[in-house]
Amino acid sequence: MPRAKGNSFVCQECGYLSPGWLGRCPVCGTWNSIVEQSPKAAGSPPSGKARAVVPEEALPVARPLADVALSEEIRISTGLPEFDRVLGGGLVPGSVVLVGGEPGIGKSTLLLQTLLNLERCGVRTLLISGEESAAQVKLRSLRLGGARSRLPLVVETQTEVIVALLEKLRPAVCVIDSVQTLWVADMGSAPGSVPQVREAAGQLLRVAKAGDIALILVGHVTKEGDLAGPRVLEHMVDAVLSFEGERTQPFRILRAVKNRFGSTNEVGIFQMSETGLAEIPDPASVFLEEGEFRAGSVVVPVLEGSRCLLAEIQALVAPSYLPASQRVARGMDRNRLAMLVAVLVRKGRVPLLKYDVFVNVAGGLAVEDPAADLGVLLAIATAWRGKSPGRGLAAFGEVSLTGKVRYVLQGEKRVQELVRRGFEQVVAPARNAEEYGRAKVASEQVVIQPVADVREAVELVTTRSGNG
Ligand code: TYD
Ligand code: MG
Repeated sequence: MPRAKGNSFVCQECGYLSPGWLGRCPVCGTWNSIVEQSPKAAGSPPSGKARAVVPEEALPVARPLADVALSEEIRISTGLPEFDRVLGGGLVPGSVVLVGGEPGIGKSTLLLQTLLNLERCGVRTLLISGEESAAQVKLRSLRLGGARSRLPLVVETQTEVIVALLEKLRPAVCVIDSVQTLWVADMGSAPGSVPQVREAAGQLLRVAKAGDIALILVGHVTKEGDLAGPRVLEHMVDAVLSFEGERTQPFRILRAVKNRFGSTNEVGIFQMSETGLAEIPDPASVFLEEGEFRAGSVVVPVLEGSRCLLAEIQALVAPSYLPASQRVARGMDRNRLAMLVAVLVRKGRVPLLKYDVFVNVAGGLAVEDPAADLGVLLAIATAWRGKSPGRGLAAFGEVSLTGKVRYVLQGEKRVQELVRRGFEQVVAPARNAEEYGRAKVASEQVVIQPVADVREAVELVTTRSGNG
């Protein structure tokens, strides 16, 4: 029997397209998530015969790259320098930015604050709320100093209505909070499902490009940290930003996951205050806890984009009462911790097999930079010895499975940040120490202790005197 052409079944979780119905999605493994798509949503390509003929005068003109002027790209400043930094200098007219983050992290606050700033500067703005009532938005605006703002607000979730509204009002900047609440008429599936969100985003994308509107979409993330459902959305938009942080901590990091108009390396750092998100004057050392450093605490300079942040790694080693000892990590990858403990046991000769090891990155920072390895390892080693390495210990370097301490990039920048914060001794990979020795500024007081392997590093910090 001949089959109907084209894919018309889609997974509601991951967007996988299948030519027939399946009980379980072969990509994401979810049961009962595959539903049939209406032909409209499937967007089946027109057959060759029906192809429209474009008249010659309607064809676009190709021009040499050399003739394209850079001044054509205008940027709209959000009024928040950290936000602009992540965007690559501000919002670009006609671009679509997706801002994702866990519920309650502060997405609505960040964007309302941005719109209030823009409105105050005379930019044509529009806020479309699909989640909150007008009164709820008003309540938030009171905390942000926007009680008398003329910011236009519409509570709406139907995509066709929003598209018509955008065509009529032509704002320069529009925020839609959130994309998961949008629905499209004449589509079978529920709001928030993959076909609905994709269709809605497609329509909005077209109107934003045609009307030169900088459109910001808010998206929720799932427990796993992915943008809920619409993976497809990430490919459609120009930039994907992720707003992160621990809800119990005031600090928030805005990170570019994708950016067609700037580097994906940049991060913006904010602090959630009583009156909205505030910029932090000295973000480099904001994650350091005040007070004296004790055993089990090591400061590591980690790179976040082009910025170097100082993070405090805290470790606790305690006798294990369970058959299998525990390795608990907060703010770093658990598998990485397990690996570092194993290296410490085998190469550093620290007998941790009957001990539980807990590692925490202070201030709610999530550390991914492998240069933090040595710091984590030394925090555990000093915690095990119960002896403080004296005045604040700082370290950086990647640790390999063979127990070698490996060279890391931008060592100079890391040392400089530590020097600025008053650290006088830094444990670093031998090649980084050598490199720094050559570039060293004469007035700097810092002593770099070069280490080649884990054994050497552990001996160095556990034999140094100090009070714990
Ligand atoms: P919200 O922007 O609603 O988060 P999201 O849109 O990501 O779900 O912010 C939620 C939290 O921020 C909420 O717990 C209250 C807090 N908050 C402040 O601490 N200060 C403020 O000025 C505002 C507006 C919110
Ligand atoms: Mg919200």
